[in-house]
Amino acid sequence: MQIDRVLKLILVTVVMATVTVSLGAVPRITVEVEDDPAVDISPLMWGLFIEDINFAGDGGLYPEKVKNRSFEFERPMMGWQILRKDGAKGDVLLYRYDKQPRNPNYAQFRVKETGGGFGLNNEGFRGMGIRKGAGFDFTIQARKVEGSISALRVEIINSEGKVIGKGKVSGFEAGKWKTYETELTATETAAKATMNLWVEGTGKLDFDMVSLFPHDTYKDRENGLRPDLVKMMEDMKPGFLRFPGGCIVEGFDLSQRYQWKNTIGPLDERVVTINRWNFEFQHKPAPDYYQSYGLGYYEYFQLAEDLNAEPMPILNIGMACQFNTGELVPVDELGPYIQDALDLIEFANGPADSEWGSVRAEMGHPEPFNMKMLGAGNEQWGPQYIERYKPFVDSIKAHYPDIQIVAATGSDATIFPNGEEEIDYLWKQWMKLDPEIVDEHFYRTPDFYLENVDWYDDYDRSGPKLFVGEYGAQSVGVASPDNENTWRTALYEAAFLIGFERNADLVRLSSYAPLFGHLDAWQWKPDLIYFNNLDVFGSANYYVHKMFSTNPGTHMLTATVDDKPKTSDGIEGLHASAQLDKDAGEVIIKVANATKKAQKTSVNLSGAGEVGGEAKVIILKSGSLKDFNTIDNQKKIYPEEFTASVTGPDFEYEFAPLSFTIIRVPVE
Ligand code: AHR
Repeated sequence: MQIDRVLKLILVTVVMATVTVSLGAVPRITVEVEDDPAVDISPLMWGLFIEDINFAGDGGLYPEKVKNRSFEFERPMMGWQILRKDGAKGDVLLYRYDKQPRNPNYAQFRVKETGGGFGLNNEGFRGMGIRKGAGFDFTIQARKVEGSISALRVEIINSEGKVIGKGKVSGFEAGKWKTYETELTATETAAKATMNLWVEGTGKLDFDMVSLFPHDTYKDRENGLRPDLVKMMEDMKPGFLRFPGGCIVEGFDLSQRYQWKNTIGPLDERVVTINRWNFEFQHKPAPDYYQSYGLGYYEYFQLAEDLNAEPMPILNIGMACQFNTGELVPVDELGPYIQDALDLIEFANGPADSEWGSVRAEMGHPEPFNMKMLGAGNEQWGPQYIERYKPFVDSIKAHYPDIQIVAATGSDATIFPNGEEEIDYLWKQWMKLDPEIVDEHFYRTPDFYLENVDWYDDYDRSGPKLFVGEYGAQSVGVASPDNENTWRTALYEAAFLIGFERNADLVRLSSYAPLFGHLDAWQWKPDLIYFNNLDVFGSANYYVHKMFSTNPGTHMLTATVDDKPKTSDGIEGLHASAQLDKDAGEVIIKVANATKKAQKTSVNLSGAGEVGGEAKVIILKSGSLKDFNTIDNQKKIYPEEFTASVTGPDFEYEFAPLSFTIIRVPVE
């Protein structure tokens, strides 16, 4: 550590007498350091919620380059374009194949004259992100019908039309569907490439499941995920992974709800479904947004395991999205929904020779995933929710008493039809029905977060534990396209999250939402992480969340600012929490300074034994509350780290204006 750096940041040790005499006027942060604090911080405190919104799944985490690979979109040729060059004559016809009801459509080349070239182009997901040197598997299911079609030439082309990768599949056989494959290597980088398929010969050829899949996947998994995006998740060290939604669990109507059984098994047996974010927002229609379920339940469980995060699937409970149709399944017809939940538990946890455990084993994971939590609905409310919740949960508990139930409180009161009344109603129910965890969501103004840092201080401790499953400060309005991840949103969230930590006995899990936004294809802003076809970067909110999740501590300590017990009473916008990290032997102090001035403070680790050594300091700050990270300036708001010597339990620290700071002090 450089001495001038230390001096600049005024992290100096002082003797107590000096504090009393010379620091009387500055705010005093007191941390009650106990040897054996009563409240542990949940290891699941900081997690991730992933939903296929903003092209987070198809076109994002799921790196398939071909859009509409099996012609199952409502417009079956969406994403595809016929190519006819210099006198080529032919067509592409669509068929429904009744023997394969889960994926019925396929296409047929009918070529009369190849001329200068007959074929098809696929546009990818807002183009295809291709890196020089990257390898791809091209696969296609085909069967020869008649004539002399001998081969298909595959080309990756950049936006200038230059071929930057090529391959060929040939030897098509008549009669039986077979998979043909070849490998391609890209010779150049392109952010918006597309793919051409050129037919060699004339005649008829049926084809389906056209795929261009990168070799480079996270942990080299087959049908794996985009590594740079998963790395951003991994870096946060998430305690849990909530999936797959969100509103997509509920569906606009029940026909569009998320059905986990449609998302597992061989890829060509997964049932492509319209994504409910396809048409939700007038400001961002995405008619080409479907779910191929290449990223399905098995992949979500695998991802959770790879991230060392507890899986938390959310299931539909016989209710479509109440912001849309609100369709209900009659209570006496809930049987299939309940059975889906029981089967899911067996799929995740059952032995490899059980009915559903064997499906998991066949997919490559004989060991159970050891799922412990299950969400009963997403943003549900009203008596209609409770009527369905009861039989659903009773049945789960009768078969699997150890599964912890995550119950909902709907959405936040500001967008509820009946405001707070709905939430009050549900809380009364939860106090009686006693689910293990209750999930609250907050999509509010930035000021709400700052003004409500004490939100959980007075919650009834005799009820269920809290999960803040979706939160995100909306700079302009809920899901407004003009929202940005400004420093105001991130800093005020930091203050709110400090409130979670100060109530760590009650708040046991939390996650921001939405997680990902494709820069060319988002529907909802703000998001935690942004990406395009080649690149990814974190918002300021990402770094705030990551600072919390990578510095969680093991036990809660009491921290006060000038002896005030509640953070909301903090001095001029200083909000503080503290934790003990028993494993590291450190006290962690987190402070959000929401004011525009530097705040000199005296810090007292009251009751600490030996204090001393190199303290680690991490600071996130920006000069203006309007600043935000962009693809061209990805680290405008980015944590700085350094170390500083601390030689006793009292020291002075100046918190930078508009900053969020973590100090990790070694203690005995
Ligand atoms: O995060 C976006 C959406 O917001 C989620 O799908 C839903 O649960 C909430 O309304």
